[in-house]
Amino acid sequence: MHAELLSPTAGNIQRCAQALQHGQLVAFPTETVFGLGAAVTQLGGIEGIFKAKGRPSEHPLIAHVAPGANLAGWVGEVTPTMQKLIDAFWPGPLTLVVPKGERMPFEVTGGQNSVGIRCPSHPVAIELLKATGVPVAAPSANRFGKVSPTRASHVLAELGDRIPFILDGDVPEVGIESTIVSLLNDQPAVLRPGAITAAQIQAVLGVPVKTHGEVSKTPNANPRVSGALEKHYSPDAKVWVLPASELSALQLNNKTLCVGWSDEFLAQADALREQYAAVLVEALSDKPAEVAKALYATLRQADELACKQVLFEKPSPGPDWEAVADRLKRASA
Ligand code: TXA
Ligand code: MG
Repeated sequence: MHAELLSPTAGNIQRCAQALQHGQLVAFPTETVFGLGAAVTQLGGIEGIFKAKGRPSEHPLIAHVAPGANLAGWVGEVTPTMQKLIDAFWPGPLTLVVPKGERMPFEVTGGQNSVGIRCPSHPVAIELLKATGVPVAAPSANRFGKVSPTRASHVLAELGDRIPFILDGDVPEVGIESTIVSLLNDQPAVLRPGAITAAQIQAVLGVPVKTHGEVSKTPNANPRVSGALEKHYSPDAKVWVLPASELSALQLNNKTLCVGWSDEFLAQADALREQYAAVLVEALSDKPAEVAKALYATLRQADELACKQVLFEKPSPGPDWEAVADRLKRASA
């Protein structure tokens, strides 16, 4: 199989919606990362997602819905808490883990009684979901454990020989996967940090929300969260996350990409480049949201440039950098 790369015209979106309705796989852009979609009602398609990614089938998938979609039957009940979060953050990068409804197949939820559901804000995703008419299960469109794709070309390179259609679209605004918040227990809990922070969720709900930091300290933290696996989001190059102060002591024997944003880190990286011929330096904006947006393309660039290692600037502590720090920690595990 060789994937067709389709521009997001109305006709192509219709064609992809029909492919989904017939159980075929379609990769499509969202505001976070590109997803690998299958209609939740097409179990052959759902199975195909796990095969194409090489992902264990007990891992639950996120079901994507269009804005204003009727959730009856797909989720158990739209509680007032859920409705508040939908009103505040959808369409947008927030996945809600809630009890599943009877129409949502266990194949999508990894056998669990709960489902992760989100409404993306990327216009191409919205048009595709509207045209498909049923929720679309979609993990990130990369091979299991690898870096999530933020360009159609990334999907083509990794899955082009395994899926029939890749829908193109504007570059994802957010660049890292959605925040996942579980509403299964009394206290809402962030299972995966993302662009929407625990503090923002708490401000909307008016009740305390467990941060991802608190959740991951709890024994038995849900291992079903695939991003919760130690090693994830990894390029072939070895990733090191370190502060500027540690750069000068390094002995570099391999082609190395240094990525940072602070003046201090970039100055130290430039000094390394003067000392070692095989050092490349990439400067990012110092805003966490901008680093998130560029993160995965930068990690892939290290492989494209045949770098053996990436030295990434260690983000400062605190909620603003939590999501980027989480992805870097896993990329370097
Ligand atoms: O931004 C995103 O969320 C992207 C785009 C494509 O929408 N999708 C994505 O999917 O990141 P994926 O498969 O990489 O992440 C799915 C994760 C699961 O591994 C798990 O962490 C969580 O969503 N999840 C889904 N259903 C769940 C459930 N019932 N209980 C706990 N976690 C669940
Ligand atoms: Mg993923």
